[in-house]
Amino acid sequence: MKSTRNNIVAANWKMNKTLEEVIQFADEINGVKLPQNIISIIAPAALYIDTLKQKLSHVKLASQDCSAYSKGAYTGEISAEMIRSCGGTYIIVGHSERRTYHKENNELLKLKIQQVLSCGLSPIYCIGETLSERNADLQFKTVSSQIEEALFSFSAEELKKLVIAYEPVWAIGTGVTATTEQAQEMHSFIRNFIAKKYGNEFAQNISILYGGSCNPGNAKELFACADIDGGLIGGASLNVKDLTAIINSF
Ligand code: PGA
Repeated sequence: MKSTRNNIVAANWKMNKTLEEVIQFADEINGVKLPQNIISIIAPAALYIDTLKQKLSHVKLASQDCSAYSKGAYTGEISAEMIRSCGGTYIIVGHSERRTYHKENNELLKLKIQQVLSCGLSPIYCIGETLSERNADLQFKTVSSQIEEALFSFSAEELKKLVIAYEPVWAIGTGVTATTEQAQEMHSFIRNFIAKKYGNEFAQNISILYGGSCNPGNAKELFACADIDGGLIGGASLNVKDLTAIINSF
């Protein structure tokens, strides 16, 4: 079953790199042969998408966020359509840093996903529990409501380009990775939860990425799990050597 799904490594650069550093990274990764059966994605700050589009052909581009609205008087916002017009094909939605620092909730994220889908792009929808939720054994409850409230009003047809990223908040940028057992348990729970709503065939085709301190040292073991189809990588995606090592970890 796993072989029918897309294997994906998405680099989430967050608020890192100047234009000079972005160009240097692009020149460097252009010299690296990447496996063709893996979808490699870079999510730079949105203002660099166009530059990277001009320079890279073997990597897809993503934005780290988009507006919940299509156009108009929303100062500082960037629409999904703008991202599409600059060459982005994926948009990360609901990253825990946006949920925390920008108070984004599932209801707002539903509107953002609607924007992404209406532009024909793929949402990479991030979900995951905090440490206190895991300690209280609430991780499955948190993740189910994140899925239900933001996704379940869409049809299976509308969601066919959906990618999910499970990122336990306690593992992001902390150096603490979920164990393969914890990650696989949650990925399998997510797939079953989606299957209950949309059917098994649909659920089997959805790529579910793991994120949270994924690095060249642990990627192979994580990606070998039955329900883990790749990774959303923060810190380790900032240099070409580590990112390409992770892309080669399937
Ligand atoms: P990290 O970040 O790899 O630095 O833990 C992952 C993410 O936030 O997407």
